Amino acid sequence: RDWLVYQAGGLHIEDVCLSAVARAVPTPFYCYSADAIRSAYKYLASAVNPIGVSICFAVKANSNIAVLGLLAELGCGMDIVSGGELERALAAGVPASKIIFSGVGKTRAEIARAVEVGIHQINVESAAEITAVAEVARGLGQRAPITLRVNPDVDAKTHAKITTATKDSKFGIPIGDVADLYAEAAAMPELEVLGVAVHIGSQIHDMSPFRRAFSAMADLVVFMRGRGLVVPRLDLGGGIGIASNDTPGPDIAEYAAIIAETVGHLGCQLTVEPGRWLVGRAGLLVTEVLYLKEMQSGPMAILDVGMNDLMRPALYDAQHPVLTLHEPRTDRAAPHYSLVGPICESSDQFGTYDRLGEMRAGDLLAFDCAGAYGASMASTYNSRDLVAEVLVEGSRFRTIRRRQDISEMLRLEQAGRWQFPAPE
Ligand code: LLP
Repeated sequence: RDWLVYQAGGLHIEDVCLSAVARAVPTPFYCYSADAIRSAYKYLASAVNPIGVSICFAVKANSNIAVLGLLAELGCGMDIVSGGELERALAAGVPASKIIFSGVGKTRAEIARAVEVGIHQINVESAAEITAVAEVARGLGQRAPITLRVNPDVDAKTHAKITTATKDSKFGIPIGDVADLYAEAAAMPELEVLGVAVHIGSQIHDMSPFRRAFSAMADLVVFMRGRGLVVPRLDLGGGIGIASNDTPGPDIAEYAAIIAETVGHLGCQLTVEPGRWLVGRAGLLVTEVLYLKEMQSGPMAILDVGMNDLMRPALYDAQHPVLTLHEPRTDRAAPHYSLVGPICESSDQFGTYDRLGEMRAGDLLAFDCAGAYGASMASTYNSRDLVAEVLVEGSRFRTIRRRQDISEMLRLEQAGRWQFPAPE
């Protein structure tokens, strides 16, 4: 990554020294490279656009509207999973005609808003949801564009908590039930039934589950067309993994080739919904070492960043690479440090790291590959400030989300007036 380098003794994002940012913005904060996000989009687009695939960014991975805006400017669409994400995408300037609404539990209010603004499509996940969308559309006097999300029963073999397409997962409609439901939905005047969608999981490195899932989708489309159904769209979901220290990233050319080989002949409008791949490597989480503590197992560094700011290690045992903001000190054989946060939970730990050199209190560190599912999953647990976000572009930086502090949290907790429940 040419935008992340040590220069003049300090770690730089593009032309901005991260230590200098940390003098202006209190730690912890997320910091993204605009150039890295743009380059990732352009790289993926150049591989998949020529085979007729458009890209909708999975907003859940990083929902900051400045980030969404960068992608939108390049022509990227969005994949959303809530009314909140819909408002974010619209606020970032994404036309509704480029927004896909995924998710297993959409409320009627969310569905209504999506139909009203003219959403590109709603990916529906159950028979009951088909009925709900049809009722909402009827109420509005509009037609709702839908696709059916298919559960192809393919195990993506990643972490159990991010696998979504095995038989017992809550996502999608079992592949064997899709054609009948599709025919029923297509007969409803309130619905415009446009195709099928699939998403098999996340952080996928081995491409073979994609091949299996996409082939299953191709067979399904052919089968449905054989029954006289019209299937113009095919949404292939997200899930492409990213490189970290010791794993190379998946080969995007191979991913594109798999799409072309498995579904290219169908003549469908194709979409992919990557989240992590577009932004994961474009962001770091900057933190300060508060204290060092000598443990029997070795030294421990207590950081000012906690599991509330970066949940992935506690939730998925993810280990993010860690960099020092100063050029690593190589003066001594470096000890292994275990890095922990300030939260009162034993799962508030980030793993053990070597190659950090000898550390001192006050040192600044950065968790790498934190641009996806970092800030967007952060919380205020332990009544800590909601973490800030900063964007670097060239030689400048700016805050794109300021810290939400305790005064704002307390304002939300002003008790309402007592009310008596109204009779039915
Ligand atoms: N499309 C759908 C329908 C999804 O559910 C997801 C992610 C994506 C696209 C984007 O997947 P990606 O390309 O980012 O892998 N919090 C977890 C990841 C959960 C992913 C949920 N769905 C993590 O931090 O690893």
